[in-house]
Amino acid sequence: MSALFAPFTLRDLCLPNRIGMPPMCQYSACEGVANDWHVQHYGSRAVGGVGLVIVEATAVLAEGRISPGDLGLWHDEQVEPLARVLRLIEGQGAVPAIQLAHAGRKASVGLGWEAQRTLTAAEGGWTAVAPSPLAFGTYAAPLALDAGGIWRVVDAFAAAARRAVRAGFRAVEIHAAHGYLLHQFLSPLSNLRDDGYGGDFAGRTRLVREVVAAVRAVLPAGMPLLIRLSATDWVEGGWDAAQTVELCRLLKDDGVDLVDVSTGGLVADAKIPAGPGFQVPFATRIRSEAGLPVAAVGLITEAAQAEAIIAKGEADLVLVGRELLRNPFWPLQAAQALGAEVAWPKQYLRAKPVAR
Ligand code: FNR
Repeated sequence: MSALFAPFTLRDLCLPNRIGMPPMCQYSACEGVANDWHVQHYGSRAVGGVGLVIVEATAVLAEGRISPGDLGLWHDEQVEPLARVLRLIEGQGAVPAIQLAHAGRKASVGLGWEAQRTLTAAEGGWTAVAPSPLAFGTYAAPLALDAGGIWRVVDAFAAAARRAVRAGFRAVEIHAAHGYLLHQFLSPLSNLRDDGYGGDFAGRTRLVREVVAAVRAVLPAGMPLLIRLSATDWVEGGWDAAQTVELCRLLKDDGVDLVDVSTGGLVADAKIPAGPGFQVPFATRIRSEAGLPVAAVGLITEAAQAEAIIAKGEADLVLVGRELLRNPFWPLQAAQALGAEVAWPKQYLRAKPVAR
């Protein structure tokens, strides 16, 4: 009996297995609107047997996009094209979720395959906002948000979550990792504010908790709320694992159902010891010390590796990113390797390997 192919329940949601596709920007939207690329991209991973599809970072405000190609949910016209994407995901038996995001000081750069530098106004760029006027690496310095600007961000997350529910998504993930706006508030390296949104742990975590409360309030009671956190900045004196655990204990009471545990992204020059499953221990620690379900992510590429993470109780879900870009059929092939019986798309049944 494979642990990886056992179902998993969060609130009213039942995932058919423990394999998720993490959010991965496609930089292919126009004015935040999804198109045929997104339909085939997400649809093919659902066909490949993934249990949970988390649609890429979707901006809650136009100025919160990383690039001009990001998806958005800041106005109503963006809802139906995304609904088309999720209907295909759901039609293949996978659960559609969406990551809601604001890029903060990492906004207004080129598409993922272009030079990563701040776009000029002539190139379609805009002024980024952040907790403090501190630039990320060589990017342009952002403007510090004032109290009204912070309120607008909280309100935009709630409005985007409402649109995500209207579109038909079954779960929402708040992006508070990888050095984007909410992470910028958490880390003492990027948040130098001296008002109620900075300073001590309570101040730096306030915006994240306000966004969680505002989003939770607009989700149906049975719908899970996920949050992606960077468990460490990988920099001395930055955001770290102990603070992440402390925050997760609070988020549990605030209505978060699962923590998607990543790391890094806050500063451009952090030394990250990347290797197979290198972020899993952070997920395991949060699971045991904060008592919340977790997803592990980062260089999980082998069926046996993923099976062991779930079987040993190191995480509740595994998210497989770049390996799913290389091979959309990874879950079906992992089932085969682990001897788990899973349903194949009926159109492809004649290609299903037969046991000898
Ligand atoms: C990403 N990643 C990412 N993370 C996130 O939280 N929101 C996002 O929109 C994106 N976008 C994105 C685009 C692309 C092309 C890649 C490759 C990655 C990070 C991703 O979700 C994941 O955490 C990492 O890729 C690590 O997992 P793998 O790829 O080692 O399995």
